Amino acid sequence: MRHDSVESGVISSNHMKIFIDSANLVEIEEALSRGFVQGVTTNPSLLSKEPKTSFETHVGKILDLINRYQPGIHLSVEVFSRDPEEILKQAEHFKKHFNYPNLSIKVQIGWNELVTIKKLSDNGISVNCTACMSITQAIMAARAGAKYVSLFWGRIRDGGAESESVPLRERKAFDYKDFDPAFVTKSVRALLDVGSIPSEIIVGSIRSVMDVRDAALAGAHIVTVPPKFFQDMVSHFKTDQVVNQFLTDFSGWLAS
Ligand code: E4P
Repeated sequence: MRHDSVESGVISSNHMKIFIDSANLVEIEEALSRGFVQGVTTNPSLLSKEPKTSFETHVGKILDLINRYQPGIHLSVEVFSRDPEEILKQAEHFKKHFNYPNLSIKVQIGWNELVTIKKLSDNGISVNCTACMSITQAIMAARAGAKYVSLFWGRIRDGGAESESVPLRERKAFDYKDFDPAFVTKSVRALLDVGSIPSEIIVGSIRSVMDVRDAALAGAHIVTVPPKFFQDMVSHFKTDQVVNQFLTDFSGWLAS
């Protein structure tokens, strides 16, 4: 795999995929119809913003859109339990019910959840281990067999200003670097690469277009982006200026 190093990050030539972070059918269709996303990630909070229906019905509608516009791309759906046995039951139900080859089951990181992540991975079910906030969480999830580890960029940064971080720093579980999402992402990518661990990093919890840029440059294989940022990602005032100039000049030439 060819690697191009950009600044201090390392970006593989076939990575930096953009996923859409939404469960909203209109937003998903707008993105899929433009072809620039290569996956859809959802979570229970995103689902809760949608009109009430059954989980299976709504995810089925997302799959209908995927199959209409970009068949075969990634879809992550999250379990909604902390009980390992219930997580296992939900994951196996989702896999059977949706019958979608590129389905990943989002399971949160945790001591008990690692048992389920290993069981699911051993059974060939793709796990997207989510809610990862630290280097050690991501590496443990990857070593347990998770195909994806989801780092929460915005929440990692938020954590540095929260009171719960103080005792962690005092007992030297973390230091300030562990609340820098770029440091965490670069470190996880470096450890995955040096260990030849095939897991991919999905960076979520994006709070700005700059976060998208920084996450990509930090080595994220995938950045999952809330659709509210897509317009700013594709727009630039200098683009508008030059296109208007071209059209004005050409109109003048046509009229001459
Ligand atoms: C990834 O899919 C995550 O669930 C999502 O990006 C979390 O975003 P939030 O931290 O804004 O809730």
